[in-house]
Amino acid sequence: MILCAFEHHQSLALRELSEAGLWDPQGDLQAITDKHFKGGRALDPQRLEAFRDDIAERCARIPLGHILGYADFGGRRLLVGSGTFVPRRQSLAMVRWIELNLALTCASTVYDLCAGVGAIGLAIWAATAARTVCVDNDSTARTYLQRNIRRLDAQREVSVLAADITRPEAFATARGRVDVVVSNPPYVPPGTELLPEWGEHHPPGTIYARRQGAELIVASAVCAAGLLRAGGVVLIEHGETQSREVAAALERHGFQAIHHCRDDDFSDATGASVFTVGRAP
Ligand SMILES: C[S@@+](CC[C@H](N)C(=O)[O-])C[C@H]1O[C@@H](n2cnc3c(N)ncnc32)[C@H](O)[C@@H]1O
Repeated sequence: MILCAFEHHQSLALRELSEAGLWDPQGDLQAITDKHFKGGRALDPQRLEAFRDDIAERCARIPLGHILGYADFGGRRLLVGSGTFVPRRQSLAMVRWIELNLALTCASTVYDLCAGVGAIGLAIWAATAARTVCVDNDSTARTYLQRNIRRLDAQREVSVLAADITRPEAFATARGRVDVVVSNPPYVPPGTELLPEWGEHHPPGTIYARRQGAELIVASAVCAAGLLRAGGVVLIEHGETQSREVAAALERHGFQAIHHCRDDDFSDATGASVFTVGRAP
């Protein structure tokens, strides 16, 4: 069988992506192909070179989002870049839990701690119209967050707070007034071996926490305890082996009805979707 030039480069790229050990080589190839050939299959040398460069980067395990400049999350396209965390579909499970279990409205207030480029907070806002405050201590993350808020035309309801969640005094003005706190903090214990996309090619401050990974989980519980009104709800995403310490942190701060959730609709070859929920007294 004679392959045309376009098909030849596609099948070569697919082989390279598969040999690089990627979990979804076909999906990655499709996304990179769309980036370069959406307007047509003409193989001019410049376009082909740019396509080949992206394939080589992906084979070197640069995160797909960093190559594309965007990540899709819950039907929304978010800008991401090399200095930011690329949102994972696993976090959509918390958004779905909120949609199914809480009746948030435009009068509700949500805090998204460790918001990164805003994936979770913006998805909750889009689903509920709740006023949402996205908190991150990193200026690169906040630059992307601001751009994503503007592009989604969410600036009236979604705001950005530059704050370190280990310093809960930054949240004093909202004390006791918040309906939901959600957090996907860096929770991986230092030294844990991860796929290179996360272990080598993400900023370490977006992935790893100090003190066996629990430091920012505990900080999330402390902030939530201060922010939430009576009956308000906290959701914290964490690793599969951390359920006990998350529950302990929530218990220490008076949370009730603490339970762990695992959502296999959002788990994939890169990890399980696991989070813990608690209700403020
Ligand atoms: C795992 S990423 C999650 C980002 C986003 N929630 C998501 O799911 O796409 C963790 C984020 O926490 C931020 N972060 C790390 N330490 C922090 C701290 N002490 N206070 C506030 N944000 C922090 C990082 O800058 C990063 O954007």
